[in-house]
Amino acid sequence: MSETILVAIAWPYANAEIHVGNITGSHLPGDIFARFHRLKGNRVVMVSGTDSHGTPVTIKADSQGVPVETVYKQYHDGFLDLYQQLGIHYDLFTTTHTQNHFKVSQAIFLALQKNGFLYQKTSAQWYSPASKRFLPDRYVEGTCYICGADGARSDQCDNCGNPLDPEKLVNPRSKIDGSTPELRDTVHFYLDLSKLEPEVARYLRERKSYWRDTVIGQSLGQIESEGLKPRAITRDLDWGIPVPIQGWEGKCLYVWFEAVIGYLSATIEWAQLSGDAAAWKEWWTNPQAKAFHFIGKDNIFFHAAWWPAQLMGTGAQFLEIFAGEGGQPLTLPYDVPANMFMNLENRKISGSHNWGVWGRDFLTRYDPDPLRYYLTVTMPENRDTDWNWDDFLHRNNDELVATWGNLANRVLSFCYKHWEGRIPEPGELTPADQELLAAVEEGFTTVGKELEAVHLRAALAEAMRLATEVNKYLDRMAPWQAVKTDKAAAGRTIYTAIRAIDSLKVLLAPFLPFTSERLHAFLGYTQPIFGFQFVQPVQDSLGEHNVLRYNPDGATGRWQPSQIEPGRALQQPQPLFKKLDPSIVDDERARMGEPQ
Ligand code: MF3
Ligand code: ZN
Repeated sequence: MSETILVAIAWPYANAEIHVGNITGSHLPGDIFARFHRLKGNRVVMVSGTDSHGTPVTIKADSQGVPVETVYKQYHDGFLDLYQQLGIHYDLFTTTHTQNHFKVSQAIFLALQKNGFLYQKTSAQWYSPASKRFLPDRYVEGTCYICGADGARSDQCDNCGNPLDPEKLVNPRSKIDGSTPELRDTVHFYLDLSKLEPEVARYLRERKSYWRDTVIGQSLGQIESEGLKPRAITRDLDWGIPVPIQGWEGKCLYVWFEAVIGYLSATIEWAQLSGDAAAWKEWWTNPQAKAFHFIGKDNIFFHAAWWPAQLMGTGAQFLEIFAGEGGQPLTLPYDVPANMFMNLENRKISGSHNWGVWGRDFLTRYDPDPLRYYLTVTMPENRDTDWNWDDFLHRNNDELVATWGNLANRVLSFCYKHWEGRIPEPGELTPADQELLAAVEEGFTTVGKELEAVHLRAALAEAMRLATEVNKYLDRMAPWQAVKTDKAAAGRTIYTAIRAIDSLKVLLAPFLPFTSERLHAFLGYTQPIFGFQFVQPVQDSLGEHNVLRYNPDGATGRWQPSQIEPGRALQQPQPLFKKLDPSIVDDERARMGEPQ
């Protein structure tokens, strides 16, 4: 039975380049997972987009003295470029600044209002007399009143992961000029999360058995200790989505309220662009559909508690308001496999200190698959991890090149040379050959199980262990010697090894799509494993924006053992990976921390 899978990846703010911590945190695990499910023949939609609103983006624009629209588009186009270079195969990567997203977000707001989960309240918010404006969210920084860390933003503390009540921030300072803001009354809409608390807690308890402990701790754990409190979902800002109520001009929906709705609106936009406008319902009103949210630990509360609460409060009313149809409630997230953080050489990655490895910059010097490999073996699935250049060098040279790249290249080149570029006829396989093939074929079960459970490190380790088994088999059979005395025996060994490599190519394809695709062509296949990406400009009432799409046409990859037949013509093989020179370690370290 084929499954319906939504791969929902955190929407990056349009205020910074994407670094390796972001990639290993959400984009890469989501892509590996989506590629695996596509190979399995499941119905996959993978969506995300640029988080274009909110104070992270307006503050960036203020600091550069350029219009917000310019800043958001500049980063957005850079994201599209990175995903293409890195092979992050989004079915749709869009932005929150679209007419469709405005409409969907406003419909959710109205549904929550209709269902009695919204109320208006006047409260005191930070205001800057000097700038004559309110200072929402990141415009004010100070000391967290929960954990005591400095540098907390007024709406969220990155240190303890708690959402904050802005007015309680200790020692507040304006981000614009450092001045001390004052509290002034303003009216906002609040989402009454306290009414939804029992339902959210029940939902989390039901999922506790298979969710990561770190995610349950920051959601259920927090609700059990502190409860779910009402939160303001509008802001005194003019860049964003207007509140769909008369008399509320000049205020916008809170960025977190609408950004999470992007998972739904992007699926709707994807369906429209694909020519079957109703197709999104298969992912959102089908209780069997499974949505997986790939995010970093700083986003856990918003995905594990806040977004499910928004969906619960919306119920079946979304369809009614958005499409005039009655019907089912929206499907809740199935899993939120959040990752912890990746540091760089034992220090927190920081844009302002130029302490980071940025995706697009890295790819000017190295290939994408070594990056994908290293970021998978060091993925912070259960605890923070560290990017270390020396480790990168060794993982590349001693594992990727030595265990896998050399295996494929050695066997294919040998075959190409001694059997006139064709896969040899094996005759009858010996027990040793059959044992090897059985071990590798078992990988479709063992690696598959780990992938399904979103244990991506373990899945890759298991696939690499099988590559090691093939190396051991070749050492024992020594076809390089046998070819001189018993060519038939050597041919049987090479046939067996090629079949094992052809299977390993599929097991590794979710992790190493570029080199698997090349190897696939060397093995004489003419149709690709995966589909392809393309950028499309889209016009709407807000202007024009580019989206990244995925076209699965022609993709022939299947999560099943090799059936490669003897006699097939190979292409002249080439090495899949480059051995890196140890000097890169010092070169790269010298680059870090330098002003750009
Ligand atoms: N822009 C947020 C961040 O970078 C993530 C938003 S995820 C979404 O932390 F679901 F809200 F879109
Ligand atoms: Zn804190």
